Amino acid sequence: MTSSLLIRPAVREDCPSILDIYNEAVLTTTATYDYEPSTLERRLAWFDAHQRDNFAIWVAVEEAPPHPPRVIGWSSLSRFHDRPGYRFTCENSIYIAADRRGQGLGSRLMLPLIASARARGLHVIIAAIDASNEASLRLHEKHGFQKVAHFREVGFKFGRWLDVVDMQLTL
Ligand SMILES: CC(C)(COP(=O)(O)OP(=O)(O)OC[C@H]1O[C@@H](n2cnc3c(N)ncnc32)[C@H](O)[C@@H]1OP(=O)(O)O)[C@@H](O)C(=O)NCCC(=O)NCCS
Repeated sequence: MTSSLLIRPAVREDCPSILDIYNEAVLTTTATYDYEPSTLERRLAWFDAHQRDNFAIWVAVEEAPPHPPRVIGWSSLSRFHDRPGYRFTCENSIYIAADRRGQGLGSRLMLPLIASARARGLHVIIAAIDASNEASLRLHEKHGFQKVAHFREVGFKFGRWLDVVDMQLTL
């Protein structure tokens, strides 16, 4: 059976898959400091706000007929801060399905994300990364992000304090 990978902008119908990938990370990792799985209602509102504000969301879709296409990862840009002086700065998110991590998908989703930040006229992308998240630190470093801060014990999850590393890419 042959399979292929398609990277494309997300559509609203992708939200259940985007949510499932995120919620798995909520429950099993410190990639996000959320404790509870989110809801489809909230994810749809997130999608609509991104559409309205022209913030990119990309999905990686595995196509392996006769199986239906499967979303196996996503990346997005979000507003960094509401105050107008921050409008040229954004934050990124990137989540790969647990069974597809470590296969280079992160890069496949990072490249169009950076391109869409440039196209939108943004100046800086900030990534706030759990300090123990080696894969994410390496992925961002590989794409030109530089470490600009290390916050100690600002997070708490699974019964322990967590450090956060901020990395930024100036476009
Ligand atoms: C972090 C994440 C997006 C990286 O994507 P990925 O597709 O798994 O990573 P890639 O295969 O593209 O690898 C990126 C780099 O990290 C390295 N890497 C991958 N997994 C790693 C691990 N567990 N430990 C150390 N390095 C790792 C790879 O070797 C590669 O570096 P290289 O090109 O120098 O060899 C993905 O693992 C993921 O979704 N994790 C859970 C959610 C998450 O952490 N999101 C980011 C929140 S900031």
